[in-house]
Amino acid sequence: MFEFRQFLTKKLPNVSVVQRTERGFPKSSIAVRFRSGTLKENDMLHLEKAGNGFYCPEDPGEPGLGEKRWSTDLGEARIVSELLKGLEVLEIGTGLGVSTKIIAEKAYWVHTVDVDQWVKDNVVNDLPRNTTFYTDIAKVPMMIEGAFVDGLHTYEQCLIDIANAKFHVQKGGLLIFHDANMPAIHQAVVDSGLVCYYIKTPAGIAFGWKD
Ligand SMILES: C[S@@+](CC[C@H](N)C(=O)[O-])C[C@H]1O[C@@H](n2cnc3c(N)ncnc32)[C@H](O)[C@@H]1O
Repeated sequence: MFEFRQFLTKKLPNVSVVQRTERGFPKSSIAVRFRSGTLKENDMLHLEKAGNGFYCPEDPGEPGLGEKRWSTDLGEARIVSELLKGLEVLEIGTGLGVSTKIIAEKAYWVHTVDVDQWVKDNVVNDLPRNTTFYTDIAKVPMMIEGAFVDGLHTYEQCLIDIANAKFHVQKGGLLIFHDANMPAIHQAVVDSGLVCYYIKTPAGIAFGWKD
């Protein structure tokens, strides 16, 4: 817990976070407020507001789901970016590239993975220079320093994503999960055995360190 507090004071002085309990992530004990922002006007992809994040009207839908994908909200992406500042990072789920761009503003490098050909054709060209895109996670280098997981939101796939993130990230590396408020993601994080902390945001962020 001491190491955890030190980490928070350094990285996120305005955010309070609590440890996950056996009964799940607490829902009401944490308040996080970040300025909302806008994406740069020259972003090539056509994005519209969707809830707290964005969607692309031309998106044919996520493989396996058929529904248009939603990005992270900008405040959430900034929290993740701050946590991963200066690090070489793995991202699972490039999606619309919203989180990728904001993480890349502070990270040293972002290795971002998405299995969808539409993402490769429509999103990747617009990503910052300090990113590398992959459709196959096996091609991502080893000994990465941190990871952000926002892939397919099923229990089974999330467990696989956690295993992949643990495989590619070095001991002591930071693992961060979007959509921790979704029961499937929450359960996968709990069942993975990772000791995690929770930040209350619109979609919920969980994070912990690889043992
Ligand atoms: C919710 S979106 C990610 C949104 C993104 N973080 C953003 O802010 O724009 C989830 C993405 O995960 C991708 N995905 C689904 N299964 C995957 C897998 N096994 N590995 C990598 N990406 C996957 C989908 O194609 C989709 O683009």
